[in-house]
Amino acid sequence: MNPLLSVQDLTIEFLRDGAYQPVVRNVSFNVYRGRTLGIVGESGSGKSVSCMSIMGLLPIPPARIASGKALLYNNTKKTIASDDADVATGEENAIDLLSLSEDGLRRHRGNDISMIFQEPMTSLNPLKTVGKQIGEAVRLHQGLKGAALRQAVIKILGDVGIPEPEKRYAQYPHEFSGGMRQRVVIAIAIACRPKILICDEPTTALDVTIQAQILNLLKKLKKDYNLTVIFITHDLGVVANIADRVAVMYAGDIIEIGTSKEIFYESRHPYTWALLSSLPQLGVKGEELYSIKGTPPNLFKEVRGDAFAPRNPQALAIDFEKIPPYFDISPTHKAKTWLLDPRAPKIEPPAVIQQIRAAKKGGAEYGE
Ligand SMILES: Nc1ncnc2c1ncn2[C@@H]1O[C@H](COP(=O)(O)OP(=O)(O)OP(=O)(O)O)[C@@H](O)[C@H]1O
Ligand SMILES: [Mg+2]
Repeated sequence: MNPLLSVQDLTIEFLRDGAYQPVVRNVSFNVYRGRTLGIVGESGSGKSVSCMSIMGLLPIPPARIASGKALLYNNTKKTIASDDADVATGEENAIDLLSLSEDGLRRHRGNDISMIFQEPMTSLNPLKTVGKQIGEAVRLHQGLKGAALRQAVIKILGDVGIPEPEKRYAQYPHEFSGGMRQRVVIAIAIACRPKILICDEPTTALDVTIQAQILNLLKKLKKDYNLTVIFITHDLGVVANIADRVAVMYAGDIIEIGTSKEIFYESRHPYTWALLSSLPQLGVKGEELYSIKGTPPNLFKEVRGDAFAPRNPQALAIDFEKIPPYFDISPTHKAKTWLLDPRAPKIEPPAVIQQIRAAKKGGAEYGE
């Protein structure tokens, strides 16, 4: 299947104490048309900066892109969706978003790719009505004016599930609840009809009920607006709900990537095991919830071997010495762990992971 966006060998560095240090290290991933890629990982793992680089929103300096491409394909022809396995794709009809000037980027931002952020209030102007703010995006894209523009904005307000859109059109952001404000932010992001919508923890600041409503809205909009989605979260439970494929990030690297089913039922990296083990939904009643010991490495010091090794109770000696390569588990699933090397000793995953695998064999589906 052909990707719509292909991020290749992306390394992002930040200037610190007079030297550039990597915070995203040689990351590659594909985003397929009409699908949702979830990016999951702890705070500081590099989820936001990876996506901000694609949008051209990194502060340069102190940031710099040391290597990589973000190829946006202009392929309109239908692809055979028999499976998610990568096929070689020519670069002829692609543009590298990382090589564009600010002017070039402005053309793609909004029109091709839009991003919504965690905290809705920071993306809204408190001094302008929401109608006006959405209208600016619609005008840019569709060139509408006057009554036609107003009508288009009211339609989008309705599309994102805001009741009484005519009345709400003339109101200011502070007159909206947190969930409704996030709907306004989503309205602005989709107003230009982007191909790709990047959602950076869009529900983290919301309570659980509202969170579920926003996730359902995004699923509906994905269909109605024909969107391809990148969904960033630190919550694997949220990812299970929304993503077709999942990339697990640790310390600036994607350590495992696969279809959602593969990540939930067939995970191979000890960090993915740890993340799954700490999901409240999978905890055993009465037992203390698993929490990952220790803290992520300081990326401003050199990382040796498998970055997760110091926190991994089952780490092998080689984990502290050498960065593992990707090992293929299926055409759609790979993980960077020495446990997959044929010479590695057989290590049993933690009890929770064994339970999930057993449950799958028994026919149960996670999240159903
Ligand atoms: N402006 C900046 N200056 C220096 N370092 C930065 C800056 N922005 C991000 N970083 C560093 O880059 C790394 C990755 O940050 P990023 O914001 O991408 O993490 P994240 O995975 O999105 O985390 P969170 O879940 O907390 O949002 C972190 O170590 C962070 O400290
Ligand atoms: Mg972030």
